[in-house]
Amino acid sequence: MYEKLFDLSGRVALITGGSRGLGKAMARAYAEHGAQILICSRGEEELRAAAAEVKAGLSTRVEWITADLANRAEPQRLADEALKRFGRVDILVNNAGGNQPQRADQITDEAWDRVLELNLSGIMRLTRALLPQMMERRWGRVIHTSSVLGLGGKKERNAYSATKSALIGLARSSALDLGPYNVTVNCLAPGPFLTELPLGLLNETQKQEFTERTALKRWGRPEEIAGAALLLGSEAGSYITGTTLLIDGGTLANIL
Ligand SMILES: NC(=O)c1ccc[n+]([C@@H]2O[C@H](COP(=O)([O-])OP(=O)(O)OC[C@H]3O[C@@H](n4cnc5c(N)ncnc54)[C@H](OP(=O)(O)O)[C@@H]3O)[C@@H](O)[C@H]2O)c1
Repeated sequence: MYEKLFDLSGRVALITGGSRGLGKAMARAYAEHGAQILICSRGEEELRAAAAEVKAGLSTRVEWITADLANRAEPQRLADEALKRFGRVDILVNNAGGNQPQRADQITDEAWDRVLELNLSGIMRLTRALLPQMMERRWGRVIHTSSVLGLGGKKERNAYSATKSALIGLARSSALDLGPYNVTVNCLAPGPFLTELPLGLLNETQKQEFTERTALKRWGRPEEIAGAALLLGSEAGSYITGTTLLIDGGTLANIL
């Protein structure tokens, strides 16, 4: 009865920011469970290599497409291209995200607008474009990659934290619109994971502070996002919607 809970055969998954880090790990996890995969990001070379890695040893279809999701026109183009190539998208993982650290009194309009477009508005636009075909088939999974910084704060993370909190609210309310169509909407909230994004922003002391804050006393490895992504992306998560799943090694369990 439960053997096929995580089976994704016949499903098509679009994973933004799938060229490295958490997105690539989720793409591989879905591919290993039988889904056809489309990954996107800006860097062509990295995408090509990631697609080969995601496909290695599997017979499932894996494709890539470049898109700059901080550009307002790109989500619609990406959705159109995904539907043209695959005919459907069953699982949408809005994972691409970025950060431009700035103090609250020094945020520039340019940085604010860019982080909001990539981390929030573009996600709404891409989701909106792909929802009708999910609703029509009465099956869909939408997953936004939020963050522990959507639930807690950190110095100089204003725009980033605002968008990651907003995704949690977006998931809650859109889950209510889409529930009658059997489309679930949830957030993943990762804590510190060993990927380019945080490692490029933090010095050694700050990295150590994150290590200490976790209950497990270590950073997450990208592949440790896979279990949660499979849960929310598959039949296993059929009664989970409008919620946020922390994968943070116990970061938010620790108030000190
Ligand atoms: N790692 C962590 O500790 C952590 C914690 C909490 C939340 N998160 C969230 O997890 C998600 C994935 O991040 P990651 O940690 O895996 O970082 P990462 O390794 O730097 O990956 C980020 C991905 O997003 C893509 N991307 C960035 N800007 C883009 C744009 N304008 N258009 C399209 N794609 C873009 C990147 O490719 P290109 O640069 O080539 O476009 C890359 O594929 C993000 O939403 C991040 O906020 C990460």
